[in-house]
Amino acid sequence: GESKAQISAIISELKVMPGAMLPILHAIQDALGYVPSEAVPLIADQLNVSRAEVHGVISYYHHFRQHAPGQHVVQICRAEACQSRGSEQLEAHAKQALGCDYHGTTADKEFSLEAVYCLGLCASGPNIMIGDDVYARVSPDKFNRLLQARRG
Ligand code: FES
Repeated sequence: GESKAQISAIISELKVMPGAMLPILHAIQDALGYVPSEAVPLIADQLNVSRAEVHGVISYYHHFRQHAPGQHVVQICRAEACQSRGSEQLEAHAKQALGCDYHGTTADKEFSLEAVYCLGLCASGPNIMIGDDVYARVSPDKFNRLLQARRG
């Protein structure tokens, strides 16, 4: 399908780079939002490595998603300054409210939950991102309102 063509184009463009595997995986995830399983044999063939090796790299780096993300990606800052301002309580609340853990997606496919390490607003944490938007001083209530607003 269309994503297979996109994946093949990315691989042929980047495979000449030294250490091409990671740049290829990043480019695929940037283009498609995740690294579909159909990418694994294509990468293995083109880089002359085993499928197990490609799969190992994908699972080693938590950054890579193996399933399509939800409509909105919610990232909670887990770095130190936000932790000291209550991000752990927020994170517990978020997991419960969404019914999924980090790297997970809600049952209705609306939201995926990810961790992020510092958004540069340390004095006003806990901070989160939803899509490309950053929100500061996020209490559990504010978290609920922000998500509700996106549910449409
Ligand atoms: Fe969270 Fe810096 S520690 S924004």
